[in-house]
Amino acid sequence: MKDFISLQDYSREQIEALLDLAIDLKAKLKAGTSHQLLKGKTLGMIFTKSSTRTRVSFEVGMVHLGGYPLFLSAADIQLGRGETIYDTANVLSRFVDGIMIRTFAHQDVLDLAKYASVPVINGLTDLLHPCQVLADLQTIYEHKGRLSGLKLAYLGDGNNMAHSLLHGCAKVGMDISVATPKGYACDDEIVEQAKEAAKLSSSTVVITNDPCEAIKGADAVYADTWVSMGQEAEKQARLKIFAPYQVNASLFALADADAIFLHCLPAYRGLEVTEEIIDGPHSVIFDESENRLHAQKAVMATLMGGV
Ligand code: CP
Ligand code: NVA
Repeated sequence: MKDFISLQDYSREQIEALLDLAIDLKAKLKAGTSHQLLKGKTLGMIFTKSSTRTRVSFEVGMVHLGGYPLFLSAADIQLGRGETIYDTANVLSRFVDGIMIRTFAHQDVLDLAKYASVPVINGLTDLLHPCQVLADLQTIYEHKGRLSGLKLAYLGDGNNMAHSLLHGCAKVGMDISVATPKGYACDDEIVEQAKEAAKLSSSTVVITNDPCEAIKGADAVYADTWVSMGQEAEKQARLKIFAPYQVNASLFALADADAIFLHCLPAYRGLEVTEEIIDGPHSVIFDESENRLHAQKAVMATLMGGV
């Protein structure tokens, strides 16, 4: 694989290999064992949206691997003033060994990958967030000791997180139930892709408008913001529509007694999740954040270092 743009492009075995490597790199880091798999390599990181976790985890991860990250804000580079993706891809490919991009239109990432001769990593688009889900799968595995046969419930907007969770869970054999309000459903094509993958991995994909049905018996419960980057103008309407999907104590009580709570962050307490749940004993949100580092190091080492 040249790029990491969608988990849909990866087989179950390839995803499991990335998770194994992420766990190995995490152990090496904790043990103080050198793992400079990308010594002297460079990663250009294009951001046209805000970020805390993605930026810091890619930058720090590249340093751990012996490489050098370059933060390229769209506000500063010529892409933000109308230079084409084609020219940007070609020029950056002459300088760096890999490109990470966070942007709005998914097609821009596909185009960047098409024209760049170096690997392209999707650091979030309006459609997908595969790096986050790789870290989420690592987190679930670490807490539950397995992935296959577990059930994940996602409550809220049919957005980039929901889409990548559909791809990721279906590939690794986890049952997934997604509950969204009417009018905020997931992309039909992505649901179909997940259903196909679920057939292969003997898991299930359930799409519903009923948050109680989705969360019932879940081993992992996932929430994301109701107002994604770029949707700020819709905020007031969304807060009303999504209210029944708030992960609170009464809804969480329907999940398995040992269920873990996940959130990609940034979180808005009192909206998509109550403080009681996100800051309570079932929450694994900071393990998830940490695992962004390890999971993305695995992706970079695999794509740029030929691991
Ligand atoms: N979860 C996530 O991608 O966080 P950032 O927006 O801070 O990168
Ligand atoms: N759905 C959110 C995820 C943030 C990591 C957004 O796109 O803003």
